[in-house]
Amino acid sequence: MKIKSIGTKIAILKVILSHIISDIKINLISFLFFSNSNHYRYIKEFKSKGCAVIPNYFNKDEVEKIYQQNIQELEKVPPELIQEKIDNIKLENGVNLEKIRGSIKLKNIENSNKNLKKLFKLKPITLFSSFYSYSIFNVKKLLYSIIHGPLILYNVTHDGSFKHYTVPEGVSDEVIAGDPHIDSPIPGIKAFIALKKVDIANGPFCYFEKSNSFKHLKNFYIRLFFSEQKMIDKENEITRSLDKDLINFCENNFELYKATINPGDLVIFDTCGVHYASKLTKGQRHLMFLYY
Ligand SMILES: [Fe+2]
Repeated sequence: MKIKSIGTKIAILKVILSHIISDIKINLISFLFFSNSNHYRYIKEFKSKGCAVIPNYFNKDEVEKIYQQNIQELEKVPPELIQEKIDNIKLENGVNLEKIRGSIKLKNIENSNKNLKKLFKLKPITLFSSFYSYSIFNVKKLLYSIIHGPLILYNVTHDGSFKHYTVPEGVSDEVIAGDPHIDSPIPGIKAFIALKKVDIANGPFCYFEKSNSFKHLKNFYIRLFFSEQKMIDKENEITRSLDKDLINFCENNFELYKATINPGDLVIFDTCGVHYASKLTKGQRHLMFLYY
């Protein structure tokens, strides 16, 4: 590939170092926890697979209240804004709206709903995720993330069975984030909570376990980093979606985790790992995402 910038070596080093530092951080965190604690089990799972499931993170009553809070946010969407496809509209309450047929996303709900924001402020999950995502080398972002908590996003996708004016029709063939992709060439954390049960027909989130390990996709990470920093010729730029060869590589080398989970379960994953939203064929999928 042809590189324009003289900072090429520094950029490569930055990508490599970010992965090495993340490895050090996760080793340090697992060292700090006792091996018989529950936290340790989840940290170990995250360390080995790049994703982990914490069952029953919220109990039945809590998750029902959280679901209702998200529905309340949906009710705040002015009906006159609704059309089949909405790219990105910022509402007056600071929430961003995105919609395709059968699926709607409310982003930055923490701007509008203090109860939801409070759920994650200064909580262990936030401390862990912020430290893993920003570390001590980016103190400002680290502190902001710990104090304010994550960006909160609500997404509902359905087959026509969810009766609501904001998303009256069922899904089509289009799936938001439906192709295998990564979210970043630099390690970071996202998580989500099932607000209702997710089974295989509801289009569970899929993650190639261990695909976040630097050794497997290093060329992809570096080239993507160059593309996103505009350090590469336009014709050589790539996107976060994987090409056919890389998808084949993932299918042949990694176990695919499908998040068929219960209400209140939390899934946490490294944004460098390859993942996608599978297609909903029946029912509804209600998820609340946390972006660190
Ligand atoms: Fe993604």
